[in-house]
Amino acid sequence: MSTHRGVSIIGWGRAMPSKVITNSDLEKMVDTSDEWIRTRTGIRERRVANPEQAASDLAFDAAQAALKKADLSPDRLGLIIVATVTPDMAFPATACLVQDRLGAKGVAAFDLEAGCSGFLYGLSVGHQFVQSATYDYVLIIGVDILSRITNWEDRNTCVLFGDGAAAVILGPGEPEQGILSTYLGSDGGGGKYLYLPAGGSRYPLDHEALDQGLQYTQMNGPEVFKFAVRIMGEAALEVLKRAGLKLEQVTYLIPHQANQRIIDAAAKRLRLPPERVLVNLDRYGNMSSASIPVALAEAADQGQFQPGDILLLVGFGAGLTWGATVIRWG
Ligand code: ACO
Repeated sequence: MSTHRGVSIIGWGRAMPSKVITNSDLEKMVDTSDEWIRTRTGIRERRVANPEQAASDLAFDAAQAALKKADLSPDRLGLIIVATVTPDMAFPATACLVQDRLGAKGVAAFDLEAGCSGFLYGLSVGHQFVQSATYDYVLIIGVDILSRITNWEDRNTCVLFGDGAAAVILGPGEPEQGILSTYLGSDGGGGKYLYLPAGGSRYPLDHEALDQGLQYTQMNGPEVFKFAVRIMGEAALEVLKRAGLKLEQVTYLIPHQANQRIIDAAAKRLRLPPERVLVNLDRYGNMSSASIPVALAEAADQGQFQPGDILLLVGFGAGLTWGATVIRWG
């Protein structure tokens, strides 16, 4: 018999690579300038994983921090979800590698791929399992090492991305607290605007693919930009409607961090002043699935949220996909 109960974030943690690449470092690598990157994107620097660090390494560190915060032992988890487009390898799932390293014996684990919306998709899936009392605790990790799928000779993309990870643990909470609503969507017709052509079953990685650089992210920036601005506004309004809340009740918007101009346009449309919008892309660039949970974990660690605060999380990404969640912090 299924029950319905509140679902709260009871732990969080993040793991950032220590290596920093600044805009002036990039000036030495491609034909770009600090001024262009700052004014066109808002990014000043980004973190890049060391060669020996894979997604599961950052994911493991973030998961351990979240478990510590929640004061939970790994065997109490019911499910581990890793949202990523840069798994350690095609299979086994990075979530299984994390499950093993955590010693979370027998705990279900899978990867979820929804581009930069991955963490919000994961949150929504985890929410269902905890709300229905199928599991008490679900670990959701957003991790990406985009530096591995970035062409560092392409100035159109290499200035945008960074690496990082963050994790949250969902657990049973008070009704009307925690996750109040979720909203997910996709438009595969826009898949051609943001994709990684080679290395899958359509185009196995061969020498020709490598010669053409098809192992790297291909992006139509202006098309993604237009989509992002539109969908951020629409998804925010829809998820608020589902929560029965109004824009004025939002304490903080936590948007996906792809471009400061996308964030500004969405915030303007939602009539949210800058002090109510959490931004970390100036320091980290676009970390795909990790951008939103890193912003959430960082603000939570800094004591920025008060009980009762309404957090509006909105993201978009390759697919094209979008997702949004409303949380009453408790
Ligand atoms: N340095 C200097 N000049 C550059 C650079 C650079 N790093 N990159 C592009 N330019 C040039 C272009 O070549 C172009 O020159 P041209 O006019 O001589 O051809 C000029 O700058 C303008 O390029 P635009 O593409 O029109 O610039 P725009 O204002 O659209 O900004 C950007 C480009 C930053 C990519 C923007 O379109 C954007 O942010 N799009 C959304 C990207 C996004 O959200 N991606 C999500 C990725 S999620 C994921 O990958 C997992």
